[in-house]
Amino acid sequence: MQGPGKTQRMGTAPGPRPQEEPRNLVSIRPPPRLGPGTMIGDKYRIECEIGRGGFGVVVRAIHLTLDQRVAIKVLTEGEGSTEAEWAEDAARFHREAKATAALRSEHVVRVLDVDVLESGYPYIVMEFLGGKTLHELTYGAPGPLKLEDAVDYAIQVLAALADAHGAGIVHRDLKPANVFLSTGFGGAPLVKVLDFGVSRMVGAGSQRLTRTGAIVGTLAYMAPEQMLDARRVDGRADLWSAAVVLYESLARAHPFNAHASGPAVVSSILSDPVAPLRERRPDLPSALEAAILRMLDKSPDRRFATAAEAAAALAPFASPRSRPVLDEIRRAPPPSGPAAPGFVSVRRAPNEPRPQGARTKPRAAKRASPMFGFLIAFVTSVIVLGLMAAFVFHVKPRYLSGVAPAVSLPSASLEVAPAASTLATPALPLPAQSPVDAGGVDEPP
Ligand SMILES: Nc1ncnc2c1ncn2[C@@H]1O[C@H](COP(=O)(O)OP(=O)(O)O)[C@@H](O)[C@H]1O
Ligand SMILES: [Mg+2]
Repeated sequence: MQGPGKTQRMGTAPGPRPQEEPRNLVSIRPPPRLGPGTMIGDKYRIECEIGRGGFGVVVRAIHLTLDQRVAIKVLTEGEGSTEAEWAEDAARFHREAKATAALRSEHVVRVLDVDVLESGYPYIVMEFLGGKTLHELTYGAPGPLKLEDAVDYAIQVLAALADAHGAGIVHRDLKPANVFLSTGFGGAPLVKVLDFGVSRMVGAGSQRLTRTGAIVGTLAYMAPEQMLDARRVDGRADLWSAAVVLYESLARAHPFNAHASGPAVVSSILSDPVAPLRERRPDLPSALEAAILRMLDKSPDRRFATAAEAAAALAPFASPRSRPVLDEIRRAPPPSGPAAPGFVSVRRAPNEPRPQGARTKPRAAKRASPMFGFLIAFVTSVIVLGLMAAFVFHVKPRYLSGVAPAVSLPSASLEVAPAASTLATPALPLPAQSPVDAGGVDEPP
């Protein structure tokens, strides 16, 4: 059985696999050689293995040219994977690298390289982080974390999310084992978020995952809507996970029945109320508990809409060290694409009801609307001016001459023009003198 902190894969439609999907197991593929001293590419020499997760093995290595320590995550196929599943994992792994490399916050682990081993296993090279994961820190220390420290760490996690959400990336697998606590340049605690591996970038690469709706992530930290339908996830699912992480770092216990096996965790998260935090942590201000409960609302519409809003609610309980981080979050662009609240509503299936409070347009469409409005105004003005011109030069003279405009033809207009001139008020132009009428004027008397 997988532990509560392990990344798991769960199909949205449980039941027997469809007949047409052949189980071409690839367990015969020899496992990658990742022992100490092994070279990866021609640049990195492995020192030791540092961990194993749901999708791969992480090793510590030396970049031989730069003489720098790096962490390398090698994607190894899951036990019993089909070729298709393996390819899906590999595609996701490459997205992890690309997505993470595009982010600039110092609270996101730096991605340095991505490539494929000769044996076919893809790998990603990251900065090597010294320190501990928040999981190790929470459960390894003799007592619970100081309130201020736990909130400071949560705010740094929200800074990483604000950056990712601004770039349209949803993490989807935030958990204490993916929050790394190292030290910054001046010795202050520096939180780095790992594993944007299950996040999805906007683009064609994510189509297959979107269609299958496969759930990838760690059940105990997964928002209810992510469990029900992975396609319905926006940045607010990460706010839920961030709140579970914060709750756990304060209480040293999970807000739901996380230690039950898979389906029981799912049912607890879907239907149980949050275990009262202040019973476990009596020194907690009620406003802080209220902010955490809001992030843990089962309905994403009732959560904070953005990481910035959540950070603002936590700010009064943070230490002064968090001030620059809060400034960074305030400066971050608003969530966009799949991370924007309610983004899924624009992709809903025909006849599917629109979720309450969801935006009806993606942000890009909103930004395009002034241009669209200008175009409409321009086209309308051209039509109105055209009609006015037609009236002044063509229809009005006819009314004055008593000829019904509905039956008039351009040639007829020229014929009746002299008659009109005899009745015309001085304000009217005299059609007979205009250049277009020259043919008539030039006719010999
Ligand atoms: N850049 C890194 N520097 C140091 N340790 C790392 C780094 N990336 C991952 N690790 C460690 O490797 C272990 C396995 O990570 P991972 O494969 O991501 O597990 P999971 O799938 O459960 O998230 C984790 O315990 C993590 O602490
Ligand atoms: Mg991880």
